[in-house]
Amino acid sequence: MAKAIINGNRSKGTINPNIYGHFSEHLGRCIYNGIYVGENSDIPNVNGMRTDVVEALKKMGIPLLRWPGGCFADTYHWRDGIGPKESRKRIVNTNWGGVTEDNTFGTHEFMELCRQLECEPYLSGNVGSGTVQEFSDWVEYCNMGGQSPMAEERRKNGQDAPWNVKYWGIGNEAWGCGGNMRPEFYADLCRQYATYMRNYDNEHKIYKIASGANVADYNWTKVVMERAGRFIDAVSLHYYTVPGGEWQHKGAATGFSRNEYYTTLKKTLRMEELVENHSRIIKQYQGNRQVGLCVDEWGTWFDVEPGTNPGFLYQQNTMRDGLVAAINLNIFNNHCDTVVMANIAQVVNVLQAVILTEGAKMLLTPTYHVFEMYKGHQGAKQLESYVETALIGEGENQAPSLHISASESGEGVLVTVANLSDTDSAELDCAISGLGKMNQVEGKVLTGACGAYNDFGSEETVKPVPLAAELTGDSFKATLPACSVAAFTVK
Ligand code: AHR
Repeated sequence: MAKAIINGNRSKGTINPNIYGHFSEHLGRCIYNGIYVGENSDIPNVNGMRTDVVEALKKMGIPLLRWPGGCFADTYHWRDGIGPKESRKRIVNTNWGGVTEDNTFGTHEFMELCRQLECEPYLSGNVGSGTVQEFSDWVEYCNMGGQSPMAEERRKNGQDAPWNVKYWGIGNEAWGCGGNMRPEFYADLCRQYATYMRNYDNEHKIYKIASGANVADYNWTKVVMERAGRFIDAVSLHYYTVPGGEWQHKGAATGFSRNEYYTTLKKTLRMEELVENHSRIIKQYQGNRQVGLCVDEWGTWFDVEPGTNPGFLYQQNTMRDGLVAAINLNIFNNHCDTVVMANIAQVVNVLQAVILTEGAKMLLTPTYHVFEMYKGHQGAKQLESYVETALIGEGENQAPSLHISASESGEGVLVTVANLSDTDSAELDCAISGLGKMNQVEGKVLTGACGAYNDFGSEETVKPVPLAAELTGDSFKATLPACSVAAFTVK
């Protein structure tokens, strides 16, 4: 029996809903086909956005969406994507497969998508190959309510009211595809760009996110914070789970070995150490204001599916991905005092997608279901939690058998637990202390073989089902199947 305790007397604060954020890039079939099919498509759509995808993302509770990249952002010139569609520039997507980008999905279309999703937009601006003027104009175009050249241009293009975009990324991966910069150089640029990102409305202050470190590059965070910390609101961090040692051999998304399974989990668990170390550095330099940590790219990165364009980063998604999502989301919940945003890469058809499409068909991945089961954590009060674990795994790739987080809201206490064992079920005995008598528990579980996935043309095999749980006083007991993610709501 594994004992767990949820301490109702201890909390690190509110879980920012943006921790459940997503990322959409002009990459492969993410935007085109996956989200945007155009008004004249046979696929049901509203103003060009796929109805099936929009409805599914709303049901999952998407709070925020990052766009237009990724690496694409630092080659993107926002003016290419406004005005009459027939006269928009056709450019080459030099980052992703060298395909033609016809710019039919631009700023107005992205804002329309966010309107339909009822989510916050997060725009990633071009620092790598753009100019300060271009970036500053984009902010004015989106946010100026009164008279100004940019506001007039927006109105001419059919949008009267400003969108008041709050979240702005100052470049992306400036250490790599965003310009191969040294942190000192980027920090100076970041100060300059941040200076000209103006607030056009005091009730809608913008939130400036600096391009952050790759994995454990702590010097990057230190230099950016030391030199530019007072000009920004947050710093980002990118960390992907790549089971293979090399980029040429990342490992397959399906049909993986037991060793690859545990390597994947072990590498995912590293997120905790990264979040803690980067947060510590941020705190050291933030002075008397809070600078947040945005993990604005995370997720699994495997070899592309055989026969697909290597530049499109299309991969299947199994129960193993579901566990990766559960671990990361538990970590972000448990560090909600410093992690203010996280964006899984990417929302549709790319890397650890929550949705896959094939023509008019759409499927929900195990990762989708984990996000849906965890959505009650958004905006809830995090509660400290602990679970007894054994170390499991193969050789050096040891992982704790169980992984947990919990929160409290008007809906009750939400306890989310993953059983990482590929072979053994776990008996859980979970006590909730300090919150008085509990009257009711409801459980749900997502489970299957670690390599199980949903596929086109067959029934959805991996989906949440009810899980029996027995409540006695302030404790509940349940059996967690091997390779599973469970969510319990206790009232
Ligand atoms: O998500 C795919 C790519 O990964 C992004 O474009 C880039 O920021 C990162 O390297």
